[in-house]
Amino acid sequence: MELTLADPEAVVLDPTGADVMGDGKRIREKGGIIPGLLPGGAPVWLVASHKIGRFIFGHPDFSRDPKHWLALKKLPARWPLRRMIEMESMLNAEGADHKRLRRLVTGAFTAQRVEELRPRIKELARNLIAELEAAGPDAVIDLRSTYNFQLPMSVICDLFGLADPTARQQLADNYQLVISNETSEEQGEAANKTLSHVIGTLIREKRQNPGEDLTSALIAARGDEAGGTQGLLSEKELFETIFTILFAGHETTRNFQTNASDLLMQHPDQLALVREGQVSYDRVVDVGMQVESSILSTMCYYATKDVEIVGTGITIRKNEAAVILIAATGRDPEQFGPNADQFDLTREGAKRHLSFGHGAHRCIGAALAQTMAATALEELFTRFDVQPAPGTSEIEPWEPTFSSHVKRRLLVTLTPRTAG
Ligand code: HEM
Repeated sequence: MELTLADPEAVVLDPTGADVMGDGKRIREKGGIIPGLLPGGAPVWLVASHKIGRFIFGHPDFSRDPKHWLALKKLPARWPLRRMIEMESMLNAEGADHKRLRRLVTGAFTAQRVEELRPRIKELARNLIAELEAAGPDAVIDLRSTYNFQLPMSVICDLFGLADPTARQQLADNYQLVISNETSEEQGEAANKTLSHVIGTLIREKRQNPGEDLTSALIAARGDEAGGTQGLLSEKELFETIFTILFAGHETTRNFQTNASDLLMQHPDQLALVREGQVSYDRVVDVGMQVESSILSTMCYYATKDVEIVGTGITIRKNEAAVILIAATGRDPEQFGPNADQFDLTREGAKRHLSFGHGAHRCIGAALAQTMAATALEELFTRFDVQPAPGTSEIEPWEPTFSSHVKRRLLVTLTPRTAG
C-alpha cells in the first residue's frame, strides 16, 4: 500500500531537538522519507536522505511559498515559528519576485566582497580574542554567547549600519525566542514586537540619515514613499529583507562556530591535523557543516504538482509539505560513506553537504559564513588550548527548536598557547 501523509504512525517531530541525528537514522532505515507531524498536527514529509533532500531543494515543482500548503491552517495561529513560515521575504518568495528580492542584496555577499571584508573579520576576531585572554585561564567561558556570537553579529550589523549594542543584543535574544519551542504564544508575540521595533527604528533612522550601509541601499531601492513611487520593493519587503538577513546572518554562523569549536575540542587528533597544516580551516568548516550542521531543518518546501520520489514508492502530492532535516542529511552514509557520522577531516567530498541548502534558495551568505567561521576557528585555536569546562559538554541540552541544531552553551576554559 502506498505510504501517504494520512499514515496513522506519522512521527511527531521532536520539539526538544535533542536527537535529530537518531531520528535521521531511523528515517533513513525506512527509506529516507516518512510522514511526520508539526505542532497542531500539521502533516509534513520528513526527509533525512541527502539524495532526496537535494532532489526536493532543486526540483522546479517545489516552492517555498506557503500559499501552496493545504495544511498550513492546522498550525497553531500563534505558534511563534509560523511567522517565519509565512513572512514575505525572499526566503518564501518564488519566481520573478524571488529574483527581484535576491538581486537587491546579492552584490553585498559575492566572493569578491567577502574577500574585501576578510581583513575586518580578522581584526574583529583578534579584538575579541584579546578580551577572552583578559578573562584569564581559570575563567569558564560560554563560547556561544560570547566570541561565537559577537563576531558574526558585529559583521552583519556593521553591514546594515546597526551600531547600538543594546539593539544588537535585543535582536539576538528575541530571534532566539521566536524559534524556540519553549516560547509561549504570548512571549512569541512580545518577541516579534521587539524585533519589529528594533528593525523599524533602524529603518526610520536610516531614512533620516542614510549611510554607506545595506539598510540605506535598500531604502534607496524602495524609492520615495512620499512621492508615492513603489520602487523595487514594498515597505513590507524592505522590512522583511532586513529581518531575514539580520537573523540568517548571525544565528546560523554563531551556532555553526559553536558546533565546530566543540568538534575540534573533542577530537584532538583532528585538531592536530589542522595545526600541523595538513588540512585547512576551510576543510574544518566543510566537514563540520556536514557532520554537525547548525541548521536542524528547513521549514518547508511545498509541492505545486504531484512529485514522485523515485526509488521510494512515495509521491508527494500537490499542496503537501516536505521538511528537510538538514543536520541529519549530513550523516547519510549513502552520500558520505560508512563513517559519515565521524568528524574526519581527511574526508573528501564533505562540501556536498546541504547546510547551505541547494537550488534557487541556496544561502546568499555562504561565502561570508565560510570566511567568518574559518577565521573565527583559526584565531581561537591558534591562540588557545581550548578545553571543555569540567563536566559540561555532554550534559548541556540542545536548543529546543526545529530551526537550529546547537547546544545551548559551550562552556570552555582557554589557556594561551606558547607556539602558534
Ligand atoms: C553557517 C552559516 C549559515 C548557514 C548554515 C546557512 C544556511 C542557509 C540555508 C540552509 C538556506 C536555504 C534555506 C532554504 O532553502 O530553505 C539559507 C538561505 C539564506 N541565507 Fe543562509 N546560512 C548561513 C549564513 C548566512 C549568512 C552569513 C547570511 C547573510 C547574508 C545568510 C543569508 C541567507 C539568506 C538571505 C537566505 C535566503 C536565500 C533565498 O531564499 O534565496 N545566511 N541559509
